[in-house]
Amino acid sequence: MAHVRSLFFTGVASQSENKAQEAKRLGRPSSLIWNITNRCNLLCSHCYMAADGRTLPDQLSEAQAYDMIERMEQAGVPVVFLSGGEPMMHPNFWEILARVNTAGVRPTISTNCTFIDAEAAARLADNGVRFIATSLYGPREFHDDMVGVPGIYDKIIAAITELRKAGVKVVIKTAVSKDTYPYLYDIIALAKEMDCSMVYLCDLITSGRSDGADDQRISNQQWREICDYIIDDLTDPDNYFEYDIGAIPSTIPYIARGLTARGLDITKGLERLKIFSACPVGQGHMTINSTGGIMPCQFAQDWTLGNIYELSFAEATQRLSQLDDAVIDGQCSVDACAYSRACRGCRVKAWQRTGGNCGGNSNAEDITCILEPCERSI
Ligand SMILES: C[S@@+](CC[C@H](N)C(=O)[O-])C[C@H]1O[C@@H](n2cnc3c(N)ncnc32)[C@H](O)[C@@H]1O
Ligand code: SF4
Ligand code: SF4
Repeated sequence: MAHVRSLFFTGVASQSENKAQEAKRLGRPSSLIWNITNRCNLLCSHCYMAADGRTLPDQLSEAQAYDMIERMEQAGVPVVFLSGGEPMMHPNFWEILARVNTAGVRPTISTNCTFIDAEAAARLADNGVRFIATSLYGPREFHDDMVGVPGIYDKIIAAITELRKAGVKVVIKTAVSKDTYPYLYDIIALAKEMDCSMVYLCDLITSGRSDGADDQRISNQQWREICDYIIDDLTDPDNYFEYDIGAIPSTIPYIARGLTARGLDITKGLERLKIFSACPVGQGHMTINSTGGIMPCQFAQDWTLGNIYELSFAEATQRLSQLDDAVIDGQCSVDACAYSRACRGCRVKAWQRTGGNCGGNSNAEDITCILEPCERSI
């Protein structure tokens, strides 16, 4: 996740950055994605976790889930993203949400939106949800085909309308692949039309039901064109819309170069990125899977550093931060790339390419960099 507007950062560290640094110092995650279930009512053809209607046999029990919320409170976790699978399919979803909110942990939901009507939207708002992130892949027929269930596109559009009426902000997420690429700009236009705040564009992760689908990723040139579009939009003085990009952190130095070429001074934004690099692995962010596994990133389901029932949040945070201290190899190393620290390359792609849980090296270079060698040379 790399929030593009953070490049415009000009001042001293903002409140959220201070909080993130404070969280790291105090040994707790600055944000947490908690996959409360691996079950899902949809069957998206690209799903990196290959979610379906089955529950993992060792999914956290109700008591363990509530205990975990108490531990989050004690550790002072500031924000949790309830995700999945489809988090709203969890039989105790509303109780989990209410307890998270009462514990003083800001709840946010990553959902396919199929369980959100007017009543649910109001209930989410009442339980402290200020924004949700939902997925959209293209026009009605294409979207329904991709998620494997008819009628879902219409449900999402209706849900977004209800969420906005209830005052809940909406982020639209899409997985960027050769299939979805033709619809990206229409998705952005629709997001703006529907008063959503942001679009999150995530490079295709080739695991789960996308395992081995590297040829389905779009080209570097296409990513550069998307970035050029974002640069145009962000430099439009009337624009209020935000962009976030996942699993392809080299887009951030590319956009930084584009903004600089337009005469914008983004030195401070780039300096700040040296602390919170475009790849969030090891930066204080933590993901916990539905069986308690501690993951550096939600995109690698089988990359875990222990279980949250065997480690304290402080110990888990310490293990994750060691990844940030690691020296990165090859074209992403500090000796080879001027953006090494601000970008770091996608650590998940590096780990998966070099063998994943069969000895993968998370410090390896990210070969999906969109910069030309001359653009990143020291
Ligand atoms: C795993 S889902 C969980 C939340 C919810 N079920 C949903 O679909 O929004 C989180 C996000 O991951 C995205 N995603 C799933 N598989 C992906 C892949 N192979 N590459 C990139 N993004 C992917 C989905 O599009 C979705 O936006
Ligand atoms: S991407 Fe989300 S909605 Fe689609 S199958 Fe995976 S968990 Fe379910
Ligand atoms: S070489 Fe690696 S660290 Fe440098 S910009 Fe490309 S992906 Fe990022």
